[in-house]
Amino acid sequence: MKTIKTEILGADVAGYDRAAAILAAGGLVSFPTETVYGLGADARDDQAVARIYAAKGRPSFNPLIVHLSATDAVAEYVDMTPQARKLADAFWPGALTLVLPIKADAKVSKLVTAGLQSLAVRVPDHPVAAQVLSSFGGPIAAPSANPSGRISPTTAAHVRAGLDGRIDGIVDGGACGVGVESTIVSCVGAPTLLRAGGIPVDAIEACLGTALLRDEDPAAPAAPGQLASHYAPTGQVRLNAPYAEAHETYLGFGAGDAALNLSPSGDLIEAAANLFAMLHELDALGAKHIAVGPIPNHDLGQAINDRLRRAAAPRD
Ligand code: TXA
Ligand code: MG
Repeated sequence: MKTIKTEILGADVAGYDRAAAILAAGGLVSFPTETVYGLGADARDDQAVARIYAAKGRPSFNPLIVHLSATDAVAEYVDMTPQARKLADAFWPGALTLVLPIKADAKVSKLVTAGLQSLAVRVPDHPVAAQVLSSFGGPIAAPSANPSGRISPTTAAHVRAGLDGRIDGIVDGGACGVGVESTIVSCVGAPTLLRAGGIPVDAIEACLGTALLRDEDPAAPAAPGQLASHYAPTGQVRLNAPYAEAHETYLGFGAGDAALNLSPSGDLIEAAANLFAMLHELDALGAKHIAVGPIPNHDLGQAINDRLRRAAAPRD
């Protein structure tokens, strides 16, 4: 991966303006929230979101949390169920992430949801995060700002140690107060705890007046990434195909003829940006048999291949 200059930005008007300009240009900016530092990108921009995965070196497309400035803004993207509304009123802004059904017309990159029909949303409780969100004026997708497999950063120095040269900027807003990630509750079905975190489970259960289901509960929805094929096209998928047979629709990578091409120039960031949209497009085309060209297994290629292996896995 090419090294870029990582600007250290102040928690002041000049810093927020610069952060907003970088985000608007499709770049990556780390900023503090009350839990941990996030690695932000414009959640509507496929290429910008793909860069998050590239910078973190994530070997798979785990879906990302979209950060918004207020509960009103959240309601543009997801269906606020009555239980979600209760939790939002009680805990936002704050260290609670809600997973909710995504609206059909929500303008969010499919790479953010990793192709799921749900979206994780949160209104952070930190003045710097709030200023970055309002200066930018749009949804910011942000995982914790650590390289994949490393611990979450709670200072700008931690972020720099892990991601210097891989991201465009870091807004230095001091140490994070909470220090652990947000609690994640899915309200897609019965409220289910997906991750313990900054807001105690007891407080959430007291607010709802019922116990949360746990992930391991047989009645709970399966966590993403756990499933072999949580999003797969309807058609059968054959991988590492140098060319398509007559009955197959070809999803190519690099130069050559293909019905759809993840990146004619062989760029892995572009391919990641196109992946989920093209899997959906194959469905729209009614493709029954899909052949996918070989994709190099380095950098973002690892995450792309992980996703494609799931798409090709046998299904019930
Ligand atoms: O405190 C936090 O939550 C921090 C700050 C930056 O906001 N962010 C954070 O993001 O911890 P990350 O990417 O490290 O963890 C997000 C978690 C992942 O485990 C992911 O699987 C889950 O949220 N997630 C995201 N979207 C989901 C969805 N639609 N359904 C279920 N889980 C989802
Ligand atoms: Mg993380």
